[in-house]
Amino acid sequence: MSRRTTLTQYLIEQQREHSNIPGDLRLLIEVVARACKAIAHHVSKGALGDVLGSAGSENVQGEVQKKLDVLSNEILLEANEWGGNLAAMASEELEQIHPIPNRYPKGEYLLLFDPLDGSSNIDVNVSIGTIFSVLRCPDGENPTEQSFLQPGTQQVAAGYAVYGPQTVLVLTTGNGVQSFTLDREVGSWVLTTRNMMIPEDTREYAINASNARHWYPPVTRYVGELLDGKEGPRGADFNMRWTASMVADVNRILIRGGIFLYPADMRDRSRPGRLRLLYEANPMAFIVEQAGGAATTGKTRILDVQPQHLHERVAVFLGSKNEVERVTAYHAQAEE
Ligand code: AHG
Ligand code: MN
Ligand code: MN
Repeated sequence: MSRRTTLTQYLIEQQREHSNIPGDLRLLIEVVARACKAIAHHVSKGALGDVLGSAGSENVQGEVQKKLDVLSNEILLEANEWGGNLAAMASEELEQIHPIPNRYPKGEYLLLFDPLDGSSNIDVNVSIGTIFSVLRCPDGENPTEQSFLQPGTQQVAAGYAVYGPQTVLVLTTGNGVQSFTLDREVGSWVLTTRNMMIPEDTREYAINASNARHWYPPVTRYVGELLDGKEGPRGADFNMRWTASMVADVNRILIRGGIFLYPADMRDRSRPGRLRLLYEANPMAFIVEQAGGAATTGKTRILDVQPQHLHERVAVFLGSKNEVERVTAYHAQAEE
């Protein structure tokens, strides 16, 4: 049998070779991965585990919480509270930050997460996931919301799990992107793809086209040219895929290329897009860039955005480099 590399082995070997994953960061990543394993278990139970349907509550963003949103949030909070590696956590499902309770030792990292991404797909048995981001805590043992407001360039690790036909964990610690597949019988994450690279060119795009009438002109122009296909200015046919789970769309893009767009639109000019900067856009942008892709707001690199609020939203264009650069250039041309 060929030797398999587990997540633990990978992290230890990285530290030996590159000194970029100290012991406390490794343990923190392993705890997150273990929590994702527990979430995967509940997801797979479906109707048998009483995890489908609404929890009957709303989160800070005014979205109805599903039972699995609440459960996944609790699993991540509980798993990460006691290990001594964190100063605080922040979650899509919590209005305020969650400092580590005083009964536990505190560490020097901050963990941010979208516990369950793609909530509208839970009940219909389509891929969903968890997204996370790790920052250093600049304020020792007394973190505030302000401590979390760091640009994405400051992330020391980011990843996501996809709960789909296979359960995978995709991770970067700033040295490429690795994908691990959960071996359910053994209970371990096995390294299955090293150094994922997004093809620079693609003929596949992902956007919720039901919002087309609200788009700003650069997005209308870009998507219009794709729709014109062979006969249009691009001289090629493009295919469209939209799963309504960012984790699943980004995972597809990492494997075979593509561009994902969630633009700001004209419905509410004060709301810059739908996705949240700190625990959706930033971790995904870090992963995509580490895999040779690009990620912008249409105007600037996502990782350079200085956050103002914990739950702020941002427009997202990410994936195959040449397409992201093209749609970003259309935004710049529209401003000229
Ligand atoms: P969440 O389930 O955490 O609220 O995130 C859903 C996000 C993202 O995963 C997905 O790409 C997008 O929202 C789906 O948006 P539409 O409802 O417009 O399809
Ligand atoms: Mn989400
Ligand atoms: Mn979510």
